[in-house]
Amino acid sequence: MPASLLTTIETSALPFEPYRTTPVAELEARIRSVKAELGEALLILGHHYQQDEVIQFADLRGDSYKLAQMAAESQLCRWIIFCGVHFMAETADILTRPEVDVILPDMAAGCSMADMADLDAVEAAWSDLSDVIDTDDLTPVTYINSAADLKAFCGRHGGIVCTSSNARAVLEWSFAQRKRVLFFPDQHLGRNTARAMGIPLAQMPVWNPAEPMGGHSEAALRASKVLLWRGHCSVHQMFRPAHVAQFRQQYPDVKVLVHPECQMSVVDAADLVGSTEFILKTVNEAPAGSTWAVGTELHLVNRLAAENPDKTVMFLSPMVCMCATMYRIDVPHLAWSLDNIAQGTPVNIVKVPDETTHWARVALERMLDVK
Ligand code: 13P
Ligand code: SF4
Repeated sequence: MPASLLTTIETSALPFEPYRTTPVAELEARIRSVKAELGEALLILGHHYQQDEVIQFADLRGDSYKLAQMAAESQLCRWIIFCGVHFMAETADILTRPEVDVILPDMAAGCSMADMADLDAVEAAWSDLSDVIDTDDLTPVTYINSAADLKAFCGRHGGIVCTSSNARAVLEWSFAQRKRVLFFPDQHLGRNTARAMGIPLAQMPVWNPAEPMGGHSEAALRASKVLLWRGHCSVHQMFRPAHVAQFRQQYPDVKVLVHPECQMSVVDAADLVGSTEFILKTVNEAPAGSTWAVGTELHLVNRLAAENPDKTVMFLSPMVCMCATMYRIDVPHLAWSLDNIAQGTPVNIVKVPDETTHWARVALERMLDVK
């Protein structure tokens, strides 16, 4: 065989297809063996919404905030496999040392909420708004569930990133700088957080990017305090106040605990609202015998129930509210991406361009500095 052809064969990435039909036990053994072989050069990060089959292999697990912190603090690894969705892998790439490569096992693991705001639409909104209000007095705040170029937009315009666990602190930081906020892409997190701070709903118009001036009069925009982008999480928006009422009727002692990506009417009907880490801590520390209905992603709630057998932990919806894109990360994709690292043909490296990295990092570091 000619040497050039041999080189081509040796350096081409392993195809994914055979992994679909390989028995899971064999794939799990491969994952363990590559992990052992790579040692500290490999760090597997997993978001709490991941399925059990995958999360068992995570070296560290967390919510979006904790995972961003862990990526920023990682010192030893050469590779990060991100078991989560695309914006999380981008964030890890932005915050890690330049020599670290971040891999997303399935590039189709996106986030439908992140896709609801893109740079062109946000730049167009900014330009429209500048005709009516002083944008030097407007802080752009992006939820971490957004593309890297939107984080960079925030960095460039004196803005910041938030997660569900620090949204209030970030809004307080923003109002200490300027008098108005443009919050994207999740209207529910923005509304729930700003309302808890005492901002009236009348001062929170929802910006519809499909309409001129977001669908508002100049007077309404001038009177605004928080402009909410018209985006939502397709998983969390499925919870309804009627689900809360049903649980209260059936279990009079139930405590209802929901994520702030839920609609305001659901948050109002619940007992407690908080990020994924808050939900975990609350249930884990609750007294034995207590009863909980939890409004967040299904895999997390099922795991919480299994890890707290002394409590009753139930899912707050008769429907299946699971994050279909998080679910794309499965054992075959994890094994495939690890095997490719091991044989020197890494696949699915998430690389954010340098200029975007610079400004997105500015906005992310502002967030990490907010206490
Ligand atoms: P947190 O991880 O910040 O709780 O957010 C939940 C979520 O929707 C992740 O995509
Ligand atoms: Fe996006 Fe919602 Fe899935 Fe989180 S749960 S990744 S916000 S679609």
